[in-house]
Amino acid sequence: MSEKSNNNTIAEKNDFFSEVRVSKDQSTGKKRKLYIESYGCQMNFSDSEIVTSILAKEGFDTTSDSSEADLILINTCSIRDRAEQTVRNRLKFFNSIKKNKPDVTVGVLGCMAERLKKKLLEEEKMVDLVVGPDAYRDLPNLVEKVDEGQKAVNTFLSREETYADISPIRLNSNGVTAFISIMRGCDNMCSFCVVPFTRGRERSRDPYSIVNEAKELFGKGYREVTLLGQNVDSYKWTLDEQDNGHEKKTINFAGLLGMVAGIHPDLRVRFSTSHPKDITDEVLHTMKNHENICKYIHLPAQSGNSRVLELMNRTYTREWYIERIDAIRNILGEDCGLSSDFIAGFCTETEEEHKDTLSLMDYVQYDFSYMFIYSERPGTLAERKYEDDIPVEVKKRRLSEIIEKQQALSLARNQRDLNKVHKVLVEGFSKRSNDYLQGRNSQNKVVVFPKKNFKKGQYVDVLVTECTAATLLGKAID
Ligand code: SAH
Ligand code: SF4
Ligand code: F3S
Repeated sequence: MSEKSNNNTIAEKNDFFSEVRVSKDQSTGKKRKLYIESYGCQMNFSDSEIVTSILAKEGFDTTSDSSEADLILINTCSIRDRAEQTVRNRLKFFNSIKKNKPDVTVGVLGCMAERLKKKLLEEEKMVDLVVGPDAYRDLPNLVEKVDEGQKAVNTFLSREETYADISPIRLNSNGVTAFISIMRGCDNMCSFCVVPFTRGRERSRDPYSIVNEAKELFGKGYREVTLLGQNVDSYKWTLDEQDNGHEKKTINFAGLLGMVAGIHPDLRVRFSTSHPKDITDEVLHTMKNHENICKYIHLPAQSGNSRVLELMNRTYTREWYIERIDAIRNILGEDCGLSSDFIAGFCTETEEEHKDTLSLMDYVQYDFSYMFIYSERPGTLAERKYEDDIPVEVKKRRLSEIIEKQQALSLARNQRDLNKVHKVLVEGFSKRSNDYLQGRNSQNKVVVFPKKNFKKGQYVDVLVTECTAATLLGKAID
C-alpha cells in the first residue's frame, strides 16, 4: 500500500517544529470570531488551547478561516530564525486582510512576542496586540484596550503562573490523545537556546490539578495523556502542611507519573522532554512498574562530543549520557523506544566532533530524532560568547549525514518489530486511506492496519508484518 517506501517521511516528520496548527470551526452562537494559528512546540499548541478557553468566556467562537475573524492571533516560536521568518510572512498576509477590514485585531502571542516585546509594534506596524506566554489571563483587558483604539502589550513573565485552574478548549483533538502542561519555563541555560528568555523561570503545576485534568479527559473518552515540560525530570511540588497533616511532602516527577498512571490502567501516560542530566532511575523504575506508562523516552543529546556539550552548557558529558542510556536499557530493556534532538554545526564544532555525534547515534540506536542546523539566537549565551563560525554548507552537509544515519537506524529499529504483536491505541484513520486505521504502540511508533470493525480509542493487538523507516504495517489479530 501507499504508506510504503516513502523516503521523505523522516524529513517531513523532522519538520515538526515548523508545523502549523489552525483553530477549527466551533460555532456556539457567540458574538465574535477568533482565528488562532500556532507554531513551535507542543507547549505552544497547549497554550493556544488555554487562550481559546480564556477568550471563549469573553464571547469568542473559533474559526478556521482568518478572513472571517474579528480577532486574529498568531502564537509564535523563536527557537530558530526560520520560525520567526515564517511568522513575519504570515503577519504580512494578515495585514492584507486588515486593509479590507480595518476593524479586525491582529495579535502576536508566545515566544516571539516575549522576545521582541514592544519592538513588534514598531517593526510590524500591522500588529495591535503583543502578549507573552505568562500574560494570557490579561487578554480580555488587552483586547478591550485595542477595541478602544489603543495598542496593547503585556510581556510580564511570572514566577507562579501555571494556568492550573483553566480548562483548555481542545483545538486539534482526535478525541483520544491529549497534552497536559505540568510545568512552565526553564531554569537551564543551554547556550544555544532562547527558551529561558521567552518562557521565564521554571515552575511546576499543582499535581492535583494535573490529575484532575487527566481524569476529566479519561471521562470524556481520551485514552492517552502526554505530560509536558521543557525538563520534566525537574518537576517538583511541595505539599502545604495543611494539605498533608504536619510534615511537608515533596512530589517529584516519578511521584507525579505514578499518580497519573494510577488513574486507570486504560489511560496511557507519556511525557516529554526528559533531560539527560536529570532523568533518574526512580523514573525508570516507575515506568517499569506501570504497564500504562509508555516505554518511550525522548532524551535529547544535542551532540555526541563532550567538548561541544560543554560549550552548549548541557552540563553532562558523552560518558554521562551513555551511562543514562545503559540504565534505560538495563531497567526497561532493549525494546524501550528512544529518540533525540541533534544540532549540527554548533560554534567551533570540528569534523571529528561531528563524527562523535554519528558514533553516539550508532551506540544508542535511536528509533527517531529531530535534527537541526545551529541557528544563532540573539541574546543567548552562545551569541554573546562564541562565533557562529561553521559555514552554512558545512552545517547542511553535517545535518544530512545525521539525517541519513537516523534514517538507517529507524529502519533497523523498525525491522526489529517485525513479526511481533504490538498493542496499538487507535487514533483515527490512516493518513492515506479510510480503509486503514492508525495508532501508536507503546514505543510511540505509528502502526497502520486494515480497519475492519475497530474504532478510534480502542486498544488493538496488531501483528506487524511490514515496515518503512517511519511506519509499521500489520493486521489485527483476533
Ligand atoms: N527542552 C528541550 C528542548 C526544547 S527546544 C530540551 O532541553 O531538550 C527543542 C530543540 O530545538 C532542542 O532540543 C534543540 O535541539 C533545538 N534547538 C534549540 N535551540 C536551537 C538553535 N539555536 N539552533 C538550532 N536548534 C535549536
Ligand atoms: Fe532550552 Fe536547554 Fe531549557 Fe531545553 S533544557 S528548553 S534546550 S535551555
Ligand atoms: Fe518555540 Fe517557544 Fe516552544 S521558542 S519551541 S514555542 S518554548
